[in-house]
Amino acid sequence: MLVSAKEMLEKARAEKYAVGQFNINNLEWTKAILLTAEELRSPVILGVSEGAGKYMCGYSTIVGMVKGMIENLKITVPVALHLDHGSYEGAKQCIEAGFSSVMFDGSHYPIEENIAKTTELVALANSLGLSLEAEVGAIGGEEDGVVGGGEVADPEECRMIADLGVTMLAAGIGNIHGKYPENWQGLNFEVLAEISEKVGNMPLVLHGGTGIPAEMIRKAISLGVAKINVNTECQLAFAAAVRGYIEAGKDLSGKGFDPRKLLAPGVDAIKETVKEKMTLFGSVGRA
Ligand code: 13P
Repeated sequence: MLVSAKEMLEKARAEKYAVGQFNINNLEWTKAILLTAEELRSPVILGVSEGAGKYMCGYSTIVGMVKGMIENLKITVPVALHLDHGSYEGAKQCIEAGFSSVMFDGSHYPIEENIAKTTELVALANSLGLSLEAEVGAIGGEEDGVVGGGEVADPEECRMIADLGVTMLAAGIGNIHGKYPENWQGLNFEVLAEISEKVGNMPLVLHGGTGIPAEMIRKAISLGVAKINVNTECQLAFAAAVRGYIEAGKDLSGKGFDPRKLLAPGVDAIKETVKEKMTLFGSVGRA
């Protein structure tokens, strides 16, 4: 079922586990994530960046693909199709195309403008029963060619945005997209605890899930994180597996030129990564 992320995240927040958001890039990626979620009886969120949206031909192509897969693969666990780091326009386009969840990332606007735009999108999402993620304090690192400096969110600003009635809130706490540098200071749990106190039971979102040590993930969940985004780790696993297969010369032998065979090791690598994350996040068996 394609569903809003609201119910699955409120349940995760209350029962202290997190639902993984895994970003998709193509059919193989999507299929690997959906089959793994079904096998593990885990709810799942499929993340789509605006760049990946363009790559996959546009938002309605993605909605068609995901809905078709849910039906054809007989997926019965709850699946949310979510725009990742959406612009104001992108969020509206995804809502129109049939996404069940959107993120409006207004963290680069002055707080007043972030509030004004988020307020408008909350009303739209609520009227259609969709979930909306907002962001305070830019997440660092690079995504779709946009490099953010990494910020620690102001807990009071988090409260202001949470009070607008968003479904979930992403707050920068020293997390960054992509690989963490050697000298990374780790997550700022003091600020996370303060934010958690200010926003009540609102599910918090941890971006930059790649490379965060397991004990930090568990601590973040204990402090209210109920959604964790993973992108780079699936990409690294996919690329390494396909590259290994090609370098071994296997694509040149037998039927190895078959694109389905060529990509199969990458698909298996994504399945393994997703399995590992769902187990760590505690979402296995929660669907
Ligand atoms: P990583 O690419 O670091 O896994 O982060 C993913 C993410 O936060 C997507 O919004």
